[in-house]
This record gives sequence, C-alpha cells and structure tokens, in this order.
Amino acid sequence: MKEITSPSPRERENMNLNQLGKSTVNEVLQLVINELYKIYPEEMLKRIPQLPKELEGLINKSIAMVVLGASGTGKTTFVKLLALNNNFNKVVVCSWTRQFKDLQLIHNREVTYVEAKDLMEYIASDIELDYILGKNVLIVIEDFNRTVEVAKHKMGMSMRRIIEYFNTAITNIRKYGAKLVIIAHDIKELKPILDHMGASANLDTWIIFRLAVTPQRARSIAKRLGFEGLYKALTEANRLSIGEFNVVSRYSSTVISGKVDMLPSHDAVEKCRLWLLAEADIKTKKDLIVFLKKRYPKLSYRDIARLTGFSEKYVAKVLSIARAKGLLERPKKSRR
Ligand SMILES: Nc1ncnc2c1ncn2[C@@H]1O[C@H](COP(=O)(O)OP(=O)(O)OP(=O)(O)O)[C@@H](O)[C@H]1O
Ligand SMILES: [Mg+2]
Repeated sequence: MKEITSPSPRERENMNLNQLGKSTVNEVLQLVINELYKIYPEEMLKRIPQLPKELEGLINKSIAMVVLGASGTGKTTFVKLLALNNNFNKVVVCSWTRQFKDLQLIHNREVTYVEAKDLMEYIASDIELDYILGKNVLIVIEDFNRTVEVAKHKMGMSMRRIIEYFNTAITNIRKYGAKLVIIAHDIKELKPILDHMGASANLDTWIIFRLAVTPQRARSIAKRLGFEGLYKALTEANRLSIGEFNVVSRYSSTVISGKVDMLPSHDAVEKCRLWLLAEADIKTKKDLIVFLKKRYPKLSYRDIARLTGFSEKYVAKVLSIARAKGLLERPKKSRR
C-alpha cells in the first residue's frame, strides 16, 4: 500500500504558490514581509516566547477551551503561542478579523479561514482527512455568539440542533486529536453556551484575562457551568494587567496564574499597515492595485504607488483597465 505522507508546511506553501504559476503572489507577500521587517528584524519576528510550564499538562488534556478577556488584554497572543508551542501545524480560524497569517508567513504553519458554515462542514468531515494526513489542528472561533447567529439565521438551524451539533463536534474534535479554542471579549458573547448548554457544554478549560465582572455575575456563571474555580478566577480578573491570566480547568482543582509575553510577529501584524494584503485573495499585481482602490476609494494613484512600490503610471493604467472591464466603479467627478 502506498504510504500516506503529509507535506511539510513549507512544502505546502510552495505547492500553492507554484500551482498558481504567478510569481506576483510572492511579490505581494514580500511587500508585507518587508513592511514587517521594518517593525521588527527577522530574528525577532521568528522569536516565540514560551507559555508557562504549569500549563503544559492541562493543555495536553484539554479538548475545548475558552479564552476570555477585554479588548487588547492578550487573548490572540495566547492562542498563537498555544499553536506555536504545541506543535499545531494547521490552524483553522472562524473569524471576521484576519490576524493569523503571521503563523503562516513567519512560522510556517498552515492557516485556513472559514465561515460558520464551512467550519461545520470542516468539523463534520474534513477534519478526518487532516487527521490521516498527520496534521495537528487547532480550531479557533473568534466570536461564538456570531457564529451561532449565522447558524440560526443563515442556515436555519434551531438552537436544539446547534447544541446537538456542538456536542457532536466536540466528540469529533477529540476523536481526531484536534483542539478547539473559543475566544470572547465578554461573557455576553458566550450567551448561547450559558443559556442553552450550561454544565453540559464540555468546555473543559477557561483562560481568563483582564475582564470586568461583578461578584454576583461571577457566582451565577460558575454555578451555571458547574465550575467552582471559575468564581475565583472571574472575580480576580478585574485586577489583572496586560498579558496576565488565570486558568481554571476540569483537570485541576486549583486556579493557575500565568502571563504571556508579547509575540513579536503578532505585535507586528497589529502595527503593519499592509497586513490586509496578505489576507486578501490577491494573486497578481493588478489584483493588488484594484483591491486597494476598491477597499479604500479615497486612496490616490500616488498613495497606491507608494504603498505597493509600483510606479504611478502603472497604477493609473491598471485602474483604467479595471474600470473599462467594470471591475471598479468610474469616479463621479474628479479623475481620482
Ligand atoms: N505581555 C505583553 N506585554 C506587552 N504587550 C503585549 C503583551 N501581550 C500582548 N501585548 C500586545 O498587546 C496588544 C494586544 O494583544 P492581543 O492582540 O493579544 O490582545 P487581544 O486580547 O487579542 O485583543 P483584541 O480583543 O483586540 O482581539 C498586541 O499589540 C500585543 O502584541
Ligand atoms: Mg485578539
């Protein structure tokens, strides 16, 4: 029988680019990478801080985690460090913000973005394929509430079906050796879990960054989820500073405290102006120019030339052809 082998993440990335047969994809990515190098030098961008050692055992056992915290407290840094320190070579992200590409460009992991519908499809079937291909998969849901809303309104699923689905999904995730992380800014985003799943929700580990919660609310959540340690972790969350977190797990009787250090590649993504280019579906120089003008109609030809490194004349020519083809609206009054 022919042995099934998985290409390394580097080989996979090259494969995709070669299949497109266009070196310009590389050029676009190179523009982004050059921009990143202006923020941090290459050796620093590649640096991966460790997560606290005490977490290793818990993370190994955990199947489904919640990462909770106010805006800018360190959640995405934590999730990226989780992927990078635990040998996940594929990250599947269900998100409306696109911030994970550094794992691919700088750290050679495979990153796939999915909508709620594709995520369901992925967990129901494609996860098995990744398993036989030897991939270690981390699935990240950025906004659980919104994912549930899409399932309800766009896919017409009842809440009961969503819950059934969720529990089956967790079984599949365990069976195929993957892990799930749900990221939330606020307890409100976890409403479907609290209201409809409660203690049966199978979310075994909670990582809590700085968050404003009243003791009453903390008590009611801990009770609803049948999780004693959550009360302490949530009430303490008010006074954590950036990067600090508390972990409560079904596999440990105590609350563990920890801190993430800044991950330079993620920090650079947050600061890099060209980042969106790496996430958009850009295959050629022309796509890049049209993408910029479409997304930011107020950019002048000169701005686009400066951002991309192409000449102003070339930018003008590409945009004029795009308008003629109907790919871009014609300007109403002025030429730009
Ligand atoms: N320990 C730390 N010390 C200093 N800066 C940090 C630390 N951890 C993270 N940062 C920086 O703080 C910013 C916010 O971090 P991060 O994006 O991880 O937060 P978040 O909770 O995911 O935010 P959001 O809610 O906006 O998604 C980033 O620029 C990150 O590099
Ligand atoms: Mg984030």
